[in-house]
Amino acid sequence: MPMNNREHTAELLFAGPIADEYNILKLICPPAAEISRRVGEFVGAWSPSYSYSRLKLLEIGCGTGITTTHLAACGDILDIVSVDNAPAMLSQARQNLARELESGRLSLIEKDALSYLQEMPAASVDVVASAYTLHNFLNGYRRRVLEEILRVLKPGGLFVNGDRYAMDDAAEQLRNTQEEVKSYFRVFLEMNRPDLLEQWVVHLFSDESEEHIMRLKPALDAMVEIGFHDVACHFRDGSNALVSAGKAGP
Ligand SMILES: C[S@@+](CC[C@H](N)C(=O)[O-])C[C@H]1O[C@@H](n2cnc3c(N)ncnc32)[C@H](O)[C@@H]1O
Repeated sequence: MPMNNREHTAELLFAGPIADEYNILKLICPPAAEISRRVGEFVGAWSPSYSYSRLKLLEIGCGTGITTTHLAACGDILDIVSVDNAPAMLSQARQNLARELESGRLSLIEKDALSYLQEMPAASVDVVASAYTLHNFLNGYRRRVLEEILRVLKPGGLFVNGDRYAMDDAAEQLRNTQEEVKSYFRVFLEMNRPDLLEQWVVHLFSDESEEHIMRLKPALDAMVEIGFHDVACHFRDGSNALVSAGKAGP
């Protein structure tokens, strides 16, 4: 397939042991839990500049539901739809989010994020939230997802993303990645799980590849270029960051 086509395709990166044992993330990336918490907190603290009764939130890449739990906890005025394209992740989400699903305020949808967004009407959601998903996307695909997020947000709506944003300084990013690899070896060899070590190292190579890597400054610049307002990074811990942006108000 020519590179410029591949750049715009969705991939299925979460299958097999990496998906089945995704809860290992808390050991190999301790800041992720904090970022997920902050995504929920940010949405909870946000209130739209327009009047509303209930708010509609779209989550992109719910995975096993770690961030979804924080979003659902930020108040009963939110109706949440979470989209993910990995059956193995969604089956865990269904278990982990049983209470939220029962309440009727949450639905989980198995679909590729871009296809789902493209089918949504313009200006139909108040908030789009995501965590640790966009960095997995190929660059061209990510750009199209961001354009669609802006289209589906209501004027005055919010986009919040807690994710892996690579350092702009290549040497700093290399040091950071080397430390991550060392921690993978520590964790997985102690658990005697060379199979998981292999999977996560391979996954890290994907994250760091030129066709995927999401560096902070170019990512923020691209969002401004696409038309988001108030693009800002609020928190950073190594390559873990909380970014938000809005759609111009009504
Ligand atoms: C690293 S996990 C993060 C899960 C969760 N948001 C969290 O905070 O733990 C990324 C998730 O995004 C999903 N994903 C990746 N590419 C996708 C795509 N193109 N469409 C829908 N979901 C996608 C994966 O299946 C996976 O469940």
